[in-house]
Amino acid sequence: MKTIIEPFRIKSVEPIKMNSIEERKKILINSHFNLFQVKAQDVIIDLLTDSGTGAMSSKQWAGIMNGDESYAGSDSYLFFKDVVQDIFGFKYILPTHQGRASERILFSNLCKEGDIVPSNTHFDTTRANILFQGAKPIDLIDDEYKDTQSIFPFKGNMSIKKLEDLLKKSDLTKIPLIMITITNNSGGGQPVSMDNIIKVSNVAKKYNIPLYIDACRFAENAYFIKIREKKYKNWSIKKIVRKMFSYADGCTMSAKKDAIVNIGGFLCTNNESVNEKNQNLLILTEGFPTYGGLAGRDLEAIGIGLNEAMDIDYLNYRIKSIEYLGKKLLKNDVPILQPTGGHAIYIDAGLFLSHIPRNQFPGQVLACELYLKGGIRCSEIGSLMFGGIDDNGKEFYANNELVRLAMPRRTYTQSHIDYVIEVVINVYNNRKEIEGLKIAKQSKYLRHFTAKLKKV
Ligand code: F0G
Repeated sequence: MKTIIEPFRIKSVEPIKMNSIEERKKILINSHFNLFQVKAQDVIIDLLTDSGTGAMSSKQWAGIMNGDESYAGSDSYLFFKDVVQDIFGFKYILPTHQGRASERILFSNLCKEGDIVPSNTHFDTTRANILFQGAKPIDLIDDEYKDTQSIFPFKGNMSIKKLEDLLKKSDLTKIPLIMITITNNSGGGQPVSMDNIIKVSNVAKKYNIPLYIDACRFAENAYFIKIREKKYKNWSIKKIVRKMFSYADGCTMSAKKDAIVNIGGFLCTNNESVNEKNQNLLILTEGFPTYGGLAGRDLEAIGIGLNEAMDIDYLNYRIKSIEYLGKKLLKNDVPILQPTGGHAIYIDAGLFLSHIPRNQFPGQVLACELYLKGGIRCSEIGSLMFGGIDDNGKEFYANNELVRLAMPRRTYTQSHIDYVIEVVINVYNNRKEIEGLKIAKQSKYLRHFTAKLKKV
């Protein structure tokens, strides 16, 4: 059959409260055109993030009931640890409350002032946590991949040439690790090929620098390897995952993505002394190493969810339903980042609202307009998130002005998506009437969460 259906039945539902455009107009003004400040109950379709917003399965909920809440050495921890070890193959595994806790612990232990950390593209929390250590995050993507309209199967790949050039001219004692983010969230949810992971690993080994993977969307990345990298066509997702991680020295993970839970994460390494330091910091700020800031029940749900995320029927539905949204938008001339990747559709707001200059935040403007017209909440991944003011007081901007429609896992049906398509097309057809925004108030780190904006 050509029609791909949601491979699940719905056992429990959560009502959506409908509201009017007049109500949403007031809500936008009261939240200073910052959608992070809008109440969830005022949102019709919430595509702000795919993080922690998925629907757990009946098996995961059963796991929640089975959670062992012992402070030390709980059964749930042992189950979690066995599953993570079996899938990823690392020696040392620490649970954390979410991805950024893993990042903070790892970078606190590995980075010092003046260091640099190369990546394909750092996610915003990774970037901020590196900066917080006084180190510098560097993104290394080939220029042709930065064009949102260019079509390549693995636009998340790190540029091997840029990496080698950087390492050749750098003081290597200042590069404590290399990171690869899979899939590349800030770069459009684009996958990284196995070939690229192997090449980055070879360079890392040559220069004796550890390689860590930001593993949030490991299953989606493995699916793209299976369908786009010929060699792996007949491999199981699990076998692909194991191979991907065999080239790394460790990983950080937000279980809120491809473990399909509402909270949780982990930090893995093969290095005993790094693990010892990680563990000490974990105890100080997260919790004892067998729960790491989580409840036993959370560890149980993560262990079950990790395997569910690698199910081929689930991944087929997941990636194909995102492609469905992308194709319909493209058919109606809406400029989106191509090809469609995992977890989200990224609208190119720079092209969509070409009459709005970058210093008036076209991405944020479009996100607000989608909320106004349809009650859809999504996030800007552009100059509000990645721009700012440098040490000389000069404004700088992001590479692209994107708006991300992130799909929570197993949460919305096709008719929800058809509604989203209708709203986006409606806004596109009336785009010339839309006006820019300016910042009224902002903070130094992660300003997009709290910035207050107003109409130009
Ligand atoms: N790395 C990547 C690639 C991410 O996408 C995220 C979170 C993190 C690290 C941090 O994980 O939220 O558990 O602390 N991304 C979410 C998003 C917030 O909306 O893309 P966390």
